[in-house]
Amino acid sequence: MEAAPTTSAPEARSHAAEALLFARNFLRYPHMLGSIMPSSRYLVDAVLEPVDWSRARVLVEYGPGVGTFTAEILRRMRADARLIVIETNDEFVKFIGSAFPDKRLSVEHDSAENVARILQRHAHARADYVVSGIPLGSMPRQLQADITLASRTGLEPSGKLLVYQFTSRVLPVLRESFPDVRRGVVIRNFPPARLFECSTAVPAPAWAQGRSA
Ligand SMILES: C[S@@+](CC[C@H](N)C(=O)[O-])C[C@H]1O[C@@H](n2cnc3c(N)ncnc32)[C@H](O)[C@@H]1O
Repeated sequence: MEAAPTTSAPEARSHAAEALLFARNFLRYPHMLGSIMPSSRYLVDAVLEPVDWSRARVLVEYGPGVGTFTAEILRRMRADARLIVIETNDEFVKFIGSAFPDKRLSVEHDSAENVARILQRHAHARADYVVSGIPLGSMPRQLQADITLASRTGLEPSGKLLVYQFTSRVLPVLRESFPDVRRGVVIRNFPPARLFECSTAVPAPAWAQGRSA
């Protein structure tokens, strides 16, 4: 695996300034953010745990906010991988664009349901991983379904949608598009978060698991 190039940006970031920017936007758009503070490092580690960094070439992040996941994805991903972040909030788009001067990163001021069109524009047929930090469960049901289906369509057959949420409301919608949804909880976050690891591949039946081919 090639070593990822280092950028000075993450070290230069001020966590206090990011927290303030995040909280200010939460007060203006509480339903779009869903939380008053950025995710904890425990949550970041748990959400990114299923990623196979050696094979991930195209990654997408929905709702980067002030870049808590973005920084860690850029730190872990291959030198030849690409990360596209999709964010609706104008202030966060500008912040991410200036805080992460990394050639592997593209910032899209757009909404998650347009992921397929955005991937096409970047000449990528599909993504290996989509990390979703948007408050899906608070969105109208049709939009939840549209975003989930668009994510499935935009993923490689071996790809995964990694979702974190503050409720389990999204589970039925995720199951409509993904045959395999594994769940987890991270208590060390405010608020505690639910994780959903959604795979496009149908899991092998229990009787076949553990057998060699
Ligand atoms: C809970 S915050 C997560 C921020 C950051 N990823 C973190 O974990 O600290 C949700 C983010 O999703 C963004 N967002 C909400 N709806 C969106 C949509 N439809 N498409 C893209 N981003 C969206 C919000 O502007 C906000 O930045």
